[in-house]
Amino acid sequence: MSPLDDLRQLMRRDQVFDFMRQTSGLEVDMSHGIALYLENISVSFDGFKAINDLNLYIEAGELRCIIGPNGAGKTTMMDIITGKTSPDSGSAWFGQNIDLLHLSEPEISQAGIGRKFQKPTVFEFHTVFENLELSMAGNKGVWATLTAKLTAAQRERIDEVLKIIGLQQSCRELAGSLSHGQKQWLEIGMLLMQDPKLLLVDEPVAGMTHQEMDRTAEKVKMASLICSTR
Ligand SMILES: Nc1ncnc2c1ncn2[C@@H]1O[C@H](COP(=O)(O)OP(=O)(O)OP(=O)(O)O)[C@@H](O)[C@H]1O
Ligand SMILES: [Mg+2]
Repeated sequence: MSPLDDLRQLMRRDQVFDFMRQTSGLEVDMSHGIALYLENISVSFDGFKAINDLNLYIEAGELRCIIGPNGAGKTTMMDIITGKTSPDSGSAWFGQNIDLLHLSEPEISQAGIGRKFQKPTVFEFHTVFENLELSMAGNKGVWATLTAKLTAAQRERIDEVLKIIGLQQSCRELAGSLSHGQKQWLEIGMLLMQDPKLLLVDEPVAGMTHQEMDRTAEKVKMASLICSTR
C-alpha cells in the first residue's frame, strides 16, 4: 500500500460513526402528527426489569424532557429507539411507517433519528467548521469531504448551524481545544447537519456550569425548531 492509501485508510473515520455510513433512504411519514410511538415496551437484563410496560408518544415538533433518577431506564429507552437494545416486548415506530424494531442502528440513523451520547464525540484534530462539514447529510466519507469544494448552500447550512450552537467565533479552532460544554454543543451541531427528524440528547448538561446549562436549553430549543421545520 502506498503512503496515500495508508492515509486514506486512516481517514476512514466514517466506519466509526454510524451516522456517516451510507444506507438506503427511508422517508418517515409523520402526517398523523406523531413522531414516535413506544407501546408496552419492557426489557430485562438478567431478570432485572430496566423498563416495565413503557408507553410514550412524541408529537412531531415537540420538545420533550424525560426526567428520572439514576437507573430509571432513560438511556435504555434511547438504546431501544436507536436499535442498540432489543426490547423483550412492545413496539416502537418512527412516524406511522417505520418499525424501529426491524432496523439496524445505521438504518435508524439514516431514517432520521439522531442521537447524542452523554460523552461528547467530536473529531478533536479538526476545526469546528470541519467537524460540521464532515457530518453533513449525504457526506461521502472524510477523504472526499476534505478534498471537495463546498457549495454556497452547504456553506450557508454550516453557518446556520454554527449560529444555533453559538460557535461562530470558534469555527476555525480545533475541536479538541473547546471546553466540555462547547464540545457538547458542537456535537449537537454535528447531529443537526444530518437533518434529523428526531433528535435524542442524553444528559446534555452533564458536567456543565449553570450558565452553560441555560445556554444549552436555548440551543436545544432552537435545534428542536430546526428539526420540526425540515
Ligand atoms: N446492557 C445492560 N446490561 C445490564 N444491565 C443494564 C444494561 N443497560 C442498562 N442496564 C441496567 O438497567 C437499568 C437502567 O439503566 P439506564 O442506564 O437506562 O438508566 P438511566 O435512567 O439512563 O440512568 P442514569 O441517570 O444513571 O444515566 C440500570 O439498573 C442499569 O444498570
Ligand atoms: Mg443514562
